[in-house]
Amino acid sequence: MLYPLLRPALFSLDPEDAHHFTLASLEIAHRIGLLGLLSRAPGKPVQVMGIDFPNPVGLAAGLDKDGAHINALGALGFGFIEIGTVTPRPQPGNPQPRMFRLPKAEAIINRMGFNNLGVDNLVKNVEASGFTGVLGINIGKNKDTPNEHAVDDYLACLDKVYAHARYVTVNISSPNTQGLRELQKDEALDSLLSAIKLRQSELAQQHGRYVPIALKIAPDLDDVQIAAIAALLMMHRIDAVIATNTTLSRDAVAGLPNAGEAGGLSGAPVRAASTHVIRSLAHHLKNEVPIIGVGGILSGTDAQEKIAAGASLVQLYTGLIYRGPALVRECVHSLA
Ligand SMILES: Cc1cc2nc3c(=O)[nH]c(=O)nc-3n(C[C@H](O)[C@H](O)[C@H](O)COP(=O)(O)O)c2cc1C
Repeated sequence: MLYPLLRPALFSLDPEDAHHFTLASLEIAHRIGLLGLLSRAPGKPVQVMGIDFPNPVGLAAGLDKDGAHINALGALGFGFIEIGTVTPRPQPGNPQPRMFRLPKAEAIINRMGFNNLGVDNLVKNVEASGFTGVLGINIGKNKDTPNEHAVDDYLACLDKVYAHARYVTVNISSPNTQGLRELQKDEALDSLLSAIKLRQSELAQQHGRYVPIALKIAPDLDDVQIAAIAALLMMHRIDAVIATNTTLSRDAVAGLPNAGEAGGLSGAPVRAASTHVIRSLAHHLKNEVPIIGVGGILSGTDAQEKIAAGASLVQLYTGLIYRGPALVRECVHSLA
């Protein structure tokens, strides 16, 4: 209820400053017990990847890259929280400014570039949180790791986060790490998935616990590419696919202020492309691999659209910036 009143003040700040201010305020509100007072929509529990989710609405990756605010975010009523993208070594990301609002389009363009404090720091934060909800950890590669060695970065992260995650996301779809999306292509993806799957089964033996793995893909794929990815997901028995990340397309925002900024576009303008990828994946996957739908959910109706297209779970990011925490409740309610 408060968010529409606070939004003009937040939107008067630089977007990245507003992001830090919001998370710091949320953290304080959580510590003094205010978030416990938020009313919750009764959610419909779902089982996906063998995991029991209290409701199907999750926080998308990138908002809490270091897992520094897990409990505060968890208190907003999400059914699951995905932290990261984290890389093996800390890295500063791209120079600021690197996040831009396009309010007329209810959109964001970002070129953060996986700014994060590294996987060891993330693991410490997860341990300290004592979080008991469903936690996904999204992993990536360092900017200065060449693509030929990308698999080493994913395996290094997987080894470290395995014991701390309910599921792990392999992110090969950020447009802000040069060459990362090349990993979505046939041979590169085939060898990455083989290596990840092998390590997953070794780690499952070692820890006595199977942790599912999801692959996060871009919206900028044609139907032939989607079919090829779907075939590899089934062949390697990947546990889920997250569709989608941000788009490089500017068709839906041409001419708007900030539309010319480099980076990935999220929010309302990516909705249709994301839903199209989900629908096409659902057609090819034939229920063998569950889909987590993300991209442009700004209302409960948008969340329903993702489920109708074939998603089993949904995630939110940009909608939270435009609608605030009430969006979580609205989506949980409309999917119940
Ligand atoms: C500022 C910002 C940072 C993001 N960082 C990440 C990231 O680190 N890893 C990732 O997998 N996705 C990242 N994303 C993509 C979101 O998780 C999501 O897939 C995308 O924004 C589409 O959903 P939305 O329209 O609800 O925002 C980021 C998005 C934004 C806006």
